[in-house]
Amino acid sequence: LSTASDRGKKAAGEKAVDYVKDGMTLGLGSGSTVYWALKKLGERVKQGLNVKGVPSSTRTENWAKEFGIPLTTFHDVQELDLAIDGADEIDENLNLLKGGGGSLVREKIVNAAADSVIIIADKSKQVTQLGKRALPIEVVPFGWEVTAQRIAQCGAEITLREKQEQPFISDNGNYILDCQFELISDPASLHATLSQLPGVVETGLFIGLADRVILE
Ligand code: A5P
Repeated sequence: LSTASDRGKKAAGEKAVDYVKDGMTLGLGSGSTVYWALKKLGERVKQGLNVKGVPSSTRTENWAKEFGIPLTTFHDVQELDLAIDGADEIDENLNLLKGGGGSLVREKIVNAAADSVIIIADKSKQVTQLGKRALPIEVVPFGWEVTAQRIAQCGAEITLREKQEQPFISDNGNYILDCQFELISDPASLHATLSQLPGVVETGLFIGLADRVILE
């Protein structure tokens, strides 16, 4: 924990667990801040806390197993009491830019299924306007070049995300386009426009989903 950002992530992640009550079904978000929430939650489970979680990525699933957090799936439960997730940018209206880790689709499904969503982050994630970072958009691999061109026409510079010089493949078998807009003045309308393009599976704009933010 060498940087203030690392210490902030740990503090925010651990604090979120204070909101977890016995018997809850949880949405387990993704990323390095969520790691700390999972670790703490695992300790509480060992002390007797009874919860079940739906993981939003295979990485989170593996951590949850490592920390002894009981898991369930949307096959068994369609409503979650509380989701805990990270974010890449958080604006004043609690709208989020997410997907730095490439798990935005499952994260959005999990957050949207939860009665309440707590976002945990270090202070560097707070912004006045979203879009300083590139917006991750998950797209179907077929025809991604066409989809990318349509997104570019909305005013973005597009980079196909890669891993070891190959296209990065999401947990859902899709590609991620990192789309650099010049600041996003109306996140809700940009999300609506992008969502209508054929081939777009989901955008990393999370509008009106967060109920509480813990910033450390
Ligand atoms: C994963 O796809 C993202 O949405 C993460 O929630 C986000 O990148 C936050 O990650 P860190 O907690 O690692 O900064």
